[in-house]
Amino acid sequence: MRSPVREIFRKVDLSAICSFAGGYPAAVTFPVDDLHRLPGLVLDKYGTKALQYGATQGVPELREAIAARYGVPVSRVQITTSSQQGIDVCTRILCDPGDVILTTEPTYLGALQSFKAYRADVRPLAGALPPNDPRGSRPISPRDKPSDPVSAGPSDDGLNSVQDRNPAVKFIYVIPDFNNPSGETMTLEQRKEIVALARELDVVIVEDSPYRELRYSGEEVPTIYSLAPERTLHLGSFSKIFAPGFRLGWIIGPEELLEQIYICKQALDLCPPVFDQYMATEFLTSGALDANLVKTKAEYRRRRDLMVSLLEKYMPEGVTWTYPEGGLFLFLTLPEGVDAIDMYDEALSKGVAYVAGSFFFLDGSHRNTMRLNFSFIAEEKMEPGLKLLGEIIAGVIRK
Ligand SMILES: Cc1ncc(COP(=O)(O)O)c(C=O)c1O
Repeated sequence: MRSPVREIFRKVDLSAICSFAGGYPAAVTFPVDDLHRLPGLVLDKYGTKALQYGATQGVPELREAIAARYGVPVSRVQITTSSQQGIDVCTRILCDPGDVILTTEPTYLGALQSFKAYRADVRPLAGALPPNDPRGSRPISPRDKPSDPVSAGPSDDGLNSVQDRNPAVKFIYVIPDFNNPSGETMTLEQRKEIVALARELDVVIVEDSPYRELRYSGEEVPTIYSLAPERTLHLGSFSKIFAPGFRLGWIIGPEELLEQIYICKQALDLCPPVFDQYMATEFLTSGALDANLVKTKAEYRRRRDLMVSLLEKYMPEGVTWTYPEGGLFLFLTLPEGVDAIDMYDEALSKGVAYVAGSFFFLDGSHRNTMRLNFSFIAEEKMEPGLKLLGEIIAGVIRK
């Protein structure tokens, strides 16, 4: 399965269009000044150790720094070569072909690609409603009889029957903070429901949380890991808080699962990139990461506010959107019958790109939705891009 997002990038000359399609961080958030000094500092401080192979779990200095930041024992920290690898190794250790993974929707495409590679049977979690759903949030429960296409899985009759027919539900995959693609955050209640369900099914929760540190408004909600440390694998990432080019992330979880991940990681890449880990250690422990986060969050808050104000100005009646309290995305719902996939070629030829929301649903439904990214687009392109998008949507509504 090719990623629809990467396909869009292959097709278009990004410099010529207003693209809300990608998910890249803003380049201005990269700590370039720190990065002028960090390589020399790492070489002076760690010498040739920084150029050697390192421990499979990650260098002790970075594991300790992550453990201290998140208040967990070092034995519960595994460094990964990014959180995409985190998703991949979790799937590898937890799933055999045909096993069931439950996911909330809309969900992250990179995770679906990984699940597919391991031939898992991915099913929507009953009770998880898409953003802007007029029915509001419903409790998530294994007894939840779905009456709508969102909660209807391939078996078409909800989680109870998922269990009945196939006892091999292996894990629940969730993106509780500033979801990609919807930008939404799960409430504490919803997190507790996920935990209750996982306990009932006796399965692991994979909490994919690369945006958690990017909260720029609202109140922090406890991690699922903090609610169920015995069965949660919490995935973090340096991609959005340092630089994605370093490909560094971490998993916090129970030792017995990390032991399996350790064996799996040995076969995959022996160890995460050592020099990069030392740079991340210094960046984190010196306080530079927190200082940079303040700037990063201010930048994204400003961009979110700009996008929301432009949507209010240019979107026709009937279009609604999520209001992210962090992260890089918001999600549009167009009036029923307006098809974001059908509209796509016209949009691209006129100079605006987005990702159709239906790609993020297992059954390709919700064709009247789209994901917009506000972190990467040049700021001066935001207004012409959203004006154009508003006109195109209005044109389709009028037809
Ligand atoms: C929800 C989610 N998980 C994981 C990733 C992978 O991030 P990385 O591998 O750069 O840590 C992304 C990237 O956009 C994402 O949106």
